[in-house]
Amino acid sequence: MPRIAILTGGGDCPGLNGVIRAAAKTAMLEFKAEVIGIEDGFDGLVHDRVRRLNYFDVSNILTQGGTILGTSNKANPFAYPVEDAQGRVTFEDYSDRALRTFNSIRADALIVIGGDGSLTIAQKLTRLGIPCVGVPKTIDNDLYGTDQTFGFDSALVTATEAVDKLHTTAQAHHRVMILEVMGRNAGWLALGAGIAGGGDVILIPEIPYKLESVRRYIHDRKRAGKRFSLVVVAEGARPEGGDVVVQRMVADASEARRLGGVGNKLRNEIEEATQIETRATILGHLQRGGTPTPFDRLLATRFGMDAARHALAGRSNIMVGLRGPDIVTVPIEEVSGRQRLVDPKGHWVATARAVNTCFGD
Ligand code: F6P
Repeated sequence: MPRIAILTGGGDCPGLNGVIRAAAKTAMLEFKAEVIGIEDGFDGLVHDRVRRLNYFDVSNILTQGGTILGTSNKANPFAYPVEDAQGRVTFEDYSDRALRTFNSIRADALIVIGGDGSLTIAQKLTRLGIPCVGVPKTIDNDLYGTDQTFGFDSALVTATEAVDKLHTTAQAHHRVMILEVMGRNAGWLALGAGIAGGGDVILIPEIPYKLESVRRYIHDRKRAGKRFSLVVVAEGARPEGGDVVVQRMVADASEARRLGGVGNKLRNEIEEATQIETRATILGHLQRGGTPTPFDRLLATRFGMDAARHALAGRSNIMVGLRGPDIVTVPIEEVSGRQRLVDPKGHWVATARAVNTCFGD
């Protein structure tokens, strides 16, 4: 009997369960295949935490956020965090354990639902002899090889609703309101929510800002009778010649740096520079939660079906992706280790500039 394994790796996002459901149902109904769920991403592969999924396990989960399998953004089998008696963390190669688990479940292929970190691991696992098919997820929308990742649309709705809600207080109190959104090194969320919510200033990693440009813009708005301004800032935004704000280092993660806090820094700087009362809101993990939007449910289901079909047809080392209206495949090596960032000369930025949005440049 054919058999596939599925795992979800990296940060969670809305739509993961939609992919699991579609891939598992396609495998069960179209291929009469068995489906094995790996728990907590690659951690379950390293520590042999696996379970058989039946049809009812994957029913009625399409609208649920999170992942029924659990996930981890620390468990890289090739650089697995191990703590010694003194609490010091070193990174060991545990890929042999991952291979042992995979061989023991006798699956034909592994579907890896994850971002660039997980897909880079998938590429290395393929080289070890585990046939992998990737599915691109992340609220950051920063993956190469796909027009859009699933999860982004849901996060965009949350962020845009936040901009809308902050607008009312900005207007009522004649304040500058700052919203900090996630996105790591990519500005897609800030830019999308800024455009969709009618933000006045949008600050993204791809366009370093000058505080003086932001000050002048807000000042000019005030002189023109607009006594409030809305600033949407990406967590990875940085001033020209300056650096990003790091919120914390996660010692046992192979990618340790967590961004965050630029909103609070800007609150002080903008208030001082403009003499307008300023408040900052950090949206944080609210962006990763909740039910997926219809767009993400549809995309997750399309990705899941194709991933299962490819995996069970013996294809590997590929990722499914969205290109225009179609679901395509791309070699994982074209995707791994690369980021798809906002093009400062691209259509989204041009659109925002056309409606007089300030990028602080
Ligand atoms: O990649 C998704 C993401 O939410 C980023 O936008 C953010 O920088 C990071 O994960 C936060 O990670 P954690 O959940 O470990 O704080």
